Amino acid sequence: MKRKQIVAGNWKMNKDYEAGRDLTKAIVNALKPSDTLVILGPPYIHLMNVNRIIKDVSNLELAAQNCHEAVSGAYTGEVSAGMLKSCDVGYVILGHSERRAYFNETDELIAKKIDVVLEHGMHPIYCCGEPLEVREDGKQNELVGEQIEQALFHLSAEDMAKVVIAYEPVWAIGTGKTASPEQAQEMHAYIRSLIEKQYSAEVAQGLSILYGGSVKPKNAGEIFSQEDVDGGLIGGASLKADDFIAIVNSF
Ligand code: 13P
Repeated sequence: MKRKQIVAGNWKMNKDYEAGRDLTKAIVNALKPSDTLVILGPPYIHLMNVNRIIKDVSNLELAAQNCHEAVSGAYTGEVSAGMLKSCDVGYVILGHSERRAYFNETDELIAKKIDVVLEHGMHPIYCCGEPLEVREDGKQNELVGEQIEQALFHLSAEDMAKVVIAYEPVWAIGTGKTASPEQAQEMHAYIRSLIEKQYSAEVAQGLSILYGGSVKPKNAGEIFSQEDVDGGLIGGASLKADDFIAIVNSF
């Protein structure tokens, strides 16, 4: 089965309104038609406007960077899955290591967010990955396995097939240190084997697993050429249209 190739940009907390608009327009203008699904993940305030700019471009989709686990209610400052869906959001990044570290998000909470996103007909992009000390101890498979099991394994096979997984080793995020193509391949193959064991070969083979952590135009081609790497979740380099497009084109 041919898996979907995906390049997703996670803008994190960057770009004011005008800069976000300009970046989106520059990406739309430079994007060539291809089979790669390109996803833009701007902060909430940009969603409506980015959607307006990209809505007629095929293979270009919108992601949010978070959502609340409740359907609605008195949660001042929060945004629900239904609100995102109403802005044409197709994907929601969940479980990012920054949300785990700075906002104390646990696998249990993330599992609830995954459920609400799926209930609203959107796709979770579930981030997992180990910090440096865990890698140095050689315990990365154990930790990532636990993150996968606790946040995802309550899902039905049908729902699991709608999930995108992003492996983002914490030590490679924003540090300029990329996992080697071999390290990425090894972890992606391991994640796929866990999905196969829990679900089936069909679900595992259909699942897109993205790599994230200091992906740049110069290293994207080698990482994406690995058998089990189906694309990337891009932070810093998604903030410059030229770099982001070069990454998209490096398949
Ligand atoms: P960088 O590409 O800036 O390392 O960020 C990766 C990331 O966290 C994407 O979600």
